[in-house]
Amino acid sequence: MRKVYFDHNATTPVHPEVAAAVQPFLGGSFGNPSSIHWAGRDVRKAVEDAREEMAAFYGCRPLEVVLTSSGTEADNLALKGVAYLEGNAGKHIVTSQVEHPAIINTCRFLETQGFRVTYVPVNRQGIVDPESVREALAADTILVSIMAANNETGCLMPIGEIGEIAKGAGILVHTDAVQATGKIPLPWETLPVDLLTFSGHKINGLKGAGGLLVRKGLELSPVVHGGHQERGRRGGTENVVGIVGMGTAFSLLRKNMDAEVAQVRGLRDTFERALFDRIPDLVLNGHPTKRLPNTVNLSFRYVEGEALLLNLDMLGIACSSGSACTSGSMEASPILLAMGADPTDAQGALRFSLGLGNTEEDVSYSVDAVERVVAKLRAMSPLYHPREAM
Ligand SMILES: Cc1ncc(COP(=O)(O)O)c(C=O)c1O
Repeated sequence: MRKVYFDHNATTPVHPEVAAAVQPFLGGSFGNPSSIHWAGRDVRKAVEDAREEMAAFYGCRPLEVVLTSSGTEADNLALKGVAYLEGNAGKHIVTSQVEHPAIINTCRFLETQGFRVTYVPVNRQGIVDPESVREALAADTILVSIMAANNETGCLMPIGEIGEIAKGAGILVHTDAVQATGKIPLPWETLPVDLLTFSGHKINGLKGAGGLLVRKGLELSPVVHGGHQERGRRGGTENVVGIVGMGTAFSLLRKNMDAEVAQVRGLRDTFERALFDRIPDLVLNGHPTKRLPNTVNLSFRYVEGEALLLNLDMLGIACSSGSACTSGSMEASPILLAMGADPTDAQGALRFSLGLGNTEEDVSYSVDAVERVVAKLRAMSPLYHPREAM
């Protein structure tokens, strides 16, 4: 059976060059990067070379890259690192209702610790209005954290405008760019943000490696206390394999990102157009254009998203019915509900996220499969009355 992977926002396949680059670190190059003897030196160099690749991709200084175990840890470091910084008197954070659980649940935790959080809404198309961020700012706001792109809908947030507003008020800005990295330009030099999260496994690197860009001069309270690693900002012996893999993934992005984005956008657009041409009662969740080039989130009316997902899985097609972290649950997506989607539409939503390795054949096979499965499920639905019959 053909296998089609349309779930790149959950994770991406490991690039063969990444797999090759990490091989020495699974064998002979086993030293601790903090050791000053021969066994540690080449490993330290590999870690620092990888950091330079990341810095070169964003256009930041290598010292501005703090390596972590994941995007989730980097999000925690951004929020708690600012909140708990010694001397910080402010108690208020502004974020959005559609952030990843790595942000939402960290904010919920901070609320139990005496912080106040404002969760600004999004419009019907899934986008934060910069003015609502401005209105949410208070005298004691310490941080604004708004994602660069949403993982479920792919919606792009106006982080430039939001950043200008917050910085104009002297407030620090964080953006979770886990999904945006590798898909849209994120020039650190001109981006009005102080902190930016990324994750290796969303860009064809390995799982268990991520990082936070921290603007030069900005101090953070560590979240993982320990050794002197990462200049005291994150203790723990480095995940050398994950870091080297992530460095290679970033160097590949620097060479190939534009071409890959153009190719993936073409496939996604063809897929989306064909589904709208062939399937009635389809709703696009998210903005038609202000969206990641690889993502399309659709509600198939009169069909349960979970049923559709399982039927497509049986045909070899992998996609998602919510964010990766909530798939498996039958609850309607909180992201789509926050956008004001009809709860039944939110139940019938599926996210298709394309990426490196997808082909035109994947698209045509999947369009046929989705059309067939939707027709089959609708035929079984007591709620569905085809238009012609009405
Ligand atoms: C927007 C966003 N932030 C953070 C994360 C968490 O990253 P990680 O899986 O590296 O912990 C994800 C993963 O799905 C994400 O989509």
